[in-house]
Amino acid sequence: LELPHLSFFAGAKIPSSIPPERVPEVAFVGRSNVGKSSLINALADTTIVRTSNKPGLTRQINFYAASRIFNMIDMPGYGFAYVKEEELIQWGKLIETYITMRTTLKKIYVIIDARHGIKLADVNFLEMLDKKDVKFQIVLTKCDMVIPPDLARRYVVVKKKLNQYKNANEEPLMVSARKKAGILNLRKEILQTVEA
Ligand code: GTP
Ligand code: MG
Repeated sequence: LELPHLSFFAGAKIPSSIPPERVPEVAFVGRSNVGKSSLINALADTTIVRTSNKPGLTRQINFYAASRIFNMIDMPGYGFAYVKEEELIQWGKLIETYITMRTTLKKIYVIIDARHGIKLADVNFLEMLDKKDVKFQIVLTKCDMVIPPDLARRYVVVKKKLNQYKNANEEPLMVSARKKAGILNLRKEILQTVEA
């Protein structure tokens, strides 16, 4: 199972440069450095997005067209302290504007580091999604970094936390971009979402 060929077509640093709505979209959001961009590369099975071991690499909303069928969106990370405060506020506004206005946005994939679980910055974000009535799917990534018994426990804890959100898919997904684990499942989930 493969995704249609991905190609970058727009980057937005400010709300007015968000491209017009055309096809269904899914967006990848999460704390800085959790592995959003790496996951998009794993899904595409090629390196189309730049990744880095330094947090705060992705500084704009990047739009990738999957053929002309749907778009995948890579967002700047939230909860990142080393960026200038003005810039953080600007990102926050940008992300919120996109999420609020975008009628073609089908689902947000909230990427969580499996080593750390759901943090305060994530909780704030998930609450915003519920308030704005945007559907979301939790994806635990970097699962290769956690030993299986700890991962099983983490899964249960995260799943329980999701009970309090009305827009959450009840089942968190588990992946590793590095080991390409769980990627097929996530591709399937995305295709179902954009085709619905
Ligand atoms: P920002 O754009 O800064 O918000 O970061 P990001 O969420 O896009 O993270 P990025 O994909 O750039 O990855 C951050 C670091 O985590 C890089 O050093 C990646 O190699 C590493 N990484 C990403 N996914 C995985 C994974 O599944 N397993 C492991 N072990 N490392 C990963
Ligand atoms: Mg990134």
